[in-house]
Amino acid sequence: MQHLLGIEDLDREQIERILARAEGLAEVGRRDIKKVPTLRGRTVVNLFLEPSTRTLSSFELAAKRLSADVVSIKAQGSSVEKGESLKDTVATLTAYDPAAIVIRSAQAGASRLVAQWTDASVINAGDGKHEHPSQALLDVYTLRRHFDSLDGRKIWIVGDVAHSRVARSCALAFGKVGAEVTLCGPPTLLPREIDRALGCETADSLEGIEQADVIYALRMQKERMSQSLIPSLREYAAEYQIDSRRLLPRQLLMHPGPVNRGVELSSEVIDSPQSLITEQVESGLFVRMAILYELLAGKGSDDSEPVSEPPRIGQPA
Ligand code: NCD
Repeated sequence: MQHLLGIEDLDREQIERILARAEGLAEVGRRDIKKVPTLRGRTVVNLFLEPSTRTLSSFELAAKRLSADVVSIKAQGSSVEKGESLKDTVATLTAYDPAAIVIRSAQAGASRLVAQWTDASVINAGDGKHEHPSQALLDVYTLRRHFDSLDGRKIWIVGDVAHSRVARSCALAFGKVGAEVTLCGPPTLLPREIDRALGCETADSLEGIEQADVIYALRMQKERMSQSLIPSLREYAAEYQIDSRRLLPRQLLMHPGPVNRGVELSSEVIDSPQSLITEQVESGLFVRMAILYELLAGKGSDDSEPVSEPPRIGQPA
């Protein structure tokens, strides 16, 4: 595998391999010295042209824990603000001979373009409303900690499906590992034919959500809406908010963050024991280490020390 551009490109076997690798790397996170030399001497560039807290911090930390040199660039404060094109920005960063470029962009398809302009492995950290594959992989990993298998599990993804790259990647990934996915939201936020495109069911109300094993809420993507697609956030919340009346005790709750408290989720369910939101963030680190490992290790890296071997005390990582 050279790039990770979308779940659409992966088969179940590739997904399982990354998740198995993440489990091995989670063990590194339990050591005193949480670092392995796998990517020593390699460079990872994070190019984030849209805001991010979790994805950027976890890719940065993941690369550092694998001993790579890391450079993180955000649109604000970079030459992108001065009007430099994506192609010129990538050419500039490619001059450092990076092993990987992790890119987040508002443009659907941006990561696929970048992959044509550089020899580095390209990881899509979110391209507009298209895909966010590392999020979907960390979500499958998180659910696997609670269910032996996702085969036949019912997962409802609720909210602004139309503008959500997370909805697309998660629907594809959950489906590929055997779950039954329902995409739910107001009709204006539920694209026609999406059920056929992603191989899942759709629902325009919460009726039937009591059958779900997992409820996955989405953030309202106001930044991607050119017109008002819901009457008001208050009315949206009345129909679609997951609150303690709607979340049954046996159901698990997920959200990719950041959450609009009081819109898609009520405060009490965010902070309930059924909420996996913090666990998702924790999984993100191990899964992103696994993605970097999968794409880069073995391609000229120092891969001589297996991750299961604890580093010797006093030895620099
Ligand atoms: C998501 C994103 O950026 O697509 N956030 C994330 O990566 N954790 C979801 C969102 O912003 O709503």
